[in-house]
Amino acid sequence: MELTQRLRTVADLVPQGMRLADIGTDHAYLPVWLILKGRIPSAIAADLRSGPLSRARETAHQYGVCNQFSFRLCDGLSGISPEETDVISIAGMGGETIASILEAAPWAREKLLLLQPMTSFVELRQYLQTHHYEIIEERIAQEGRRLYSILVVRQGEMAPLTPGELLAGQQSCDPLRRAYLEMLAEKVTHSLDGHRRAALPDRAEIARLEALLRELQAMMEVYPT
Ligand SMILES: C[S@@+](CC[C@H](N)C(=O)[O-])C[C@H]1O[C@@H](n2cnc3c(N)ncnc32)[C@H](O)[C@@H]1O
Repeated sequence: MELTQRLRTVADLVPQGMRLADIGTDHAYLPVWLILKGRIPSAIAADLRSGPLSRARETAHQYGVCNQFSFRLCDGLSGISPEETDVISIAGMGGETIASILEAAPWAREKLLLLQPMTSFVELRQYLQTHHYEIIEERIAQEGRRLYSILVVRQGEMAPLTPGELLAGQQSCDPLRRAYLEMLAEKVTHSLDGHRRAALPDRAEIARLEALLRELQAMMEVYPT
């Protein structure tokens, strides 16, 4: 079984021997791969919908690892108790959904979290920094032209993030960091152009986006082209 680069990057962050709860598991590719590789002894595969959970069961069955799985049809972490898991992955969902899943399960703070938001990066990082979570590392994964950020999170306090850090995460040695900043700067430029062309331009929003773009460009300068 081959994982996509996005899920492979999440998989690489799961410590050896830990029990995983994969929330929004869909096909359960991540936990099945980790079990096949002998990285984790067991997993909980959870999903809000029965269709994806059936797909998870099918994948586990296909690879002969059903007896190392528990399947839960539930919203977020609601069907899981804290003593059942050591590490929680939530990948491929919007940042606001991820934040609402954490909000509903304060016990998640006791666990290692691997979060891969598809959208609402600012909202997720804002939630984490105001709810006693610390982002200890961020990795970037590339699939074709798309870049994904994966956050490694645990309980703790962070220094307040700047607007650029809320959007792009903190500076790191990741080889894809510059490309990631370029991609975000392109999106901010696009949004800025739209606001500038509007019949009634929102001056405050334009100023905010200009400052954000300047910060992203300064962040980029640290990395060689
Ligand atoms: C795009 S798939 C991601 C699958 C896999 N985690 C990945 O990253 O490839 C998102 C999955 O999250 C599930 N989901 C959405 N909201 C959820 C929630 N609140 N609790 C559990 N699962 C949820 C959806 O049903 C869907 O199967």
